[in-house]
Amino acid sequence: MKKLFTAGLFFIMVSILMQACSVNQQTQSENDKIDNLISSMTLEEKIGMTIGDGRYLINSQNEKIADVFIANRNSKMVIPRLNIKTTALTDGPSGINKGPAPEGATDYTYTTAFPTSTCLAASWNTALVENVGKAFGNELLEYDYDLVLMPALNLHRNPKCGRSFEYYSEDPLLSGKLASSMVNGLQLNGIGATLKHFVANNQESNRRKYNAVVSQRALREIYLRGFEIAVKESHPKAIMTSYNRLNGFYNAENPDLLQDIVRKEWGFNGLFITDFDMNYGDAVAQVRAGNNLIMSGSENELKQITDALKNKTLDESTLDKNLVYNMKLKLGSPSMTGFTPSLKPDLEAHAKIAREAAGEGMVLLKNENNTLPFKEEKTVAVFGKIAYYLIAAGTGSGGIRSNKYETSVNEGLKSVGFNVLKEMEKSYTDFIEKTKKENLVPPYFDNPKMRKDNGITDDQAPPHFKKRLVAFSKEQAVPKVDIKKYESKSDVAVITLGRSGGENYENGYLPITQIELNLVRDVCKIFHAARKKVVVVLNVGGVWETASWRDYPDAILLAWQPGQEGGTVVADILKGVINPSGKLPDSFPLKYEDVPSSSTFPGMPVDEPVNSFYEEGIYVGYRYYDSFDVPTAYEFGYGLSYTTFDYSDLKLSSTSFSSKMQVTITVKNTGDVAGKEVVQLYLAAPQSEIEKPVQELKGFAKTKLLNPGESQQLSFELDKHSLASFWSGISAWVADKGDYEVRIGASSKDIRLKESFNLSNNIVVEKVHNVLYPNFMMKELSRITKAL
Ligand code: BGC
Repeated sequence: MKKLFTAGLFFIMVSILMQACSVNQQTQSENDKIDNLISSMTLEEKIGMTIGDGRYLINSQNEKIADVFIANRNSKMVIPRLNIKTTALTDGPSGINKGPAPEGATDYTYTTAFPTSTCLAASWNTALVENVGKAFGNELLEYDYDLVLMPALNLHRNPKCGRSFEYYSEDPLLSGKLASSMVNGLQLNGIGATLKHFVANNQESNRRKYNAVVSQRALREIYLRGFEIAVKESHPKAIMTSYNRLNGFYNAENPDLLQDIVRKEWGFNGLFITDFDMNYGDAVAQVRAGNNLIMSGSENELKQITDALKNKTLDESTLDKNLVYNMKLKLGSPSMTGFTPSLKPDLEAHAKIAREAAGEGMVLLKNENNTLPFKEEKTVAVFGKIAYYLIAAGTGSGGIRSNKYETSVNEGLKSVGFNVLKEMEKSYTDFIEKTKKENLVPPYFDNPKMRKDNGITDDQAPPHFKKRLVAFSKEQAVPKVDIKKYESKSDVAVITLGRSGGENYENGYLPITQIELNLVRDVCKIFHAARKKVVVVLNVGGVWETASWRDYPDAILLAWQPGQEGGTVVADILKGVINPSGKLPDSFPLKYEDVPSSSTFPGMPVDEPVNSFYEEGIYVGYRYYDSFDVPTAYEFGYGLSYTTFDYSDLKLSSTSFSSKMQVTITVKNTGDVAGKEVVQLYLAAPQSEIEKPVQELKGFAKTKLLNPGESQQLSFELDKHSLASFWSGISAWVADKGDYEVRIGASSKDIRLKESFNLSNNIVVEKVHNVLYPNFMMKELSRITKAL
């Protein structure tokens, strides 16, 4: 027996060794191939490989599906004699972003509009997000792409940011874990994923040039942390450097950031690519910093690099060093590994995944007297233009235009068997048509700056407003007599309110308008007088103001911008086919002034900020609200279900921490219907050497679908890093000795179980480079000085 065991062990060791050798050989031969390729290139070709050829190049193979390509067959970035082929890329994050189907097109290749990132984040389900990534990756592969410019994981520092819908959360752990899952799913297909926009790119005002002034601690703990998790846990093939400056330097030109932190500390082995059209930047500095690909590339950048090489202020060897990563990406890309795309991905299967994901991301904010799911209600009075015009995603490069359909809430309700009122349908669809026909500049854009930016000279909206027009235009006012008439013909009212948002503007938190407020108030009054219920559905990209109106309706469902299946999913939730299980990835403040960055965002002057001081430091989102006792409308991690869950049996693997700690709990469905529960682990660290937020998210898990009475054990692991804070003085992550409290919660405020452990000595978890210090003195928010 012993002999047999020894032989088995020997065999296993030999095969591990052989595998390691073959991986090494493979890497060695890949390295040799890359070296040979680079040394066979002319200087001109090397420059061509470093700088894109401009933006909208058509891939000659598949003109129909082309939109954004790094290079086409005839460009400088394709070298036929060396068999170096095109690299095709597109934007995300909610789906392939290519031009819409031209009028009358019969052979157009449609794509899937998946839920936006905020909606996915609210699922708190890493497996589900990975599955979305897998489906999206397959679609990219079958449509002949190599690289996708997503996931985007800038932190939700301030709800006004126009691109919030593209990003995940106010918490770096949740952002980093979900971005990792997305990358893992995408890259399973051989597609490259790109983390963006790196880093501290948390606003749209003067987005290309503003300088984010951020303390080293806030950078490490908040803004870099999500990227760090994603790089380490999913090995993305690319990272896009952001436009902005950070502590004085453009990120795209900063070797401390790209080399010291990302390559050396995090072990990143992929491609750095600039955000597009940074023409104002210093292309030579970007190359010197190790940015591998300058996009989308311009004559000016080409000249800068060519001149610098001529003048010997840039050495060819720098290009050679950088090109290793470009070649690595190219050699591993589907275009070069001989993959033949079908141009026929299974869009029905992907639609199902989009639907499932939206179903887990929607958050039930209010459900008084179990208004939902509907019981006897059959006929629904459907209010709000957005009920007839779903906002599947925001606009700009993160928008989606090539999906075949977007199911509105009204259509969704009908499709699952509810009756709607034909006359309401007509009134709202006429109103939408009228809005389109009138084509007036939407109120939000009707001010001198926006007019100038968008080339608006009269009252007419420009053609590029097509996707924004209805979403940003005025709501239809509904007279009380009409509401009364609709009430008399229906059993219940559903009001849908919506907001779009997107690149270039801080349009992420536009307040409720008087027309909308009147609508909510009047519908609620009239329906309540007839003992009928009212539900509000929110079709918004991120955090929104709710405190001024949330008392009126009986229930509120936060649908986010949920992708093409949105309306059907809303209807399934209202009907009870889906039990909502989403929880908030952001805190919803009572009022904007409560947001910790409200007084400094987006910097001064407001329209064109030069510096943006992150004075709130580490106190972003719940870290602030919880630590400074500021009440919120809905707290981080909050979300209701149609069932109830009991939490029990919290167990720690030890009462003292050495290097790891296992935490287990049991969740039981104690209600009447099946449901999933998101469980959050917060850690309260000792307030010793440096101050800390009162608690921080250090783990999360979602149960499977638990039937009534069914239980599931969930486990979490805390490592040294989970305990550590960043000490800027010694540039190290340190876990302070003392007592730690593990808090298991259904939200950041609804803590159900607590248990403590002790760390007997300080641990220096990791020593890092002392880089990225602020170029200004800045007074950061502090619990200690605030209390004095
Ligand atoms: C955006 C990026 C996008 C790129 C290419 C830029 O303006 O900031 O997110 O990937 O354009 O469309």
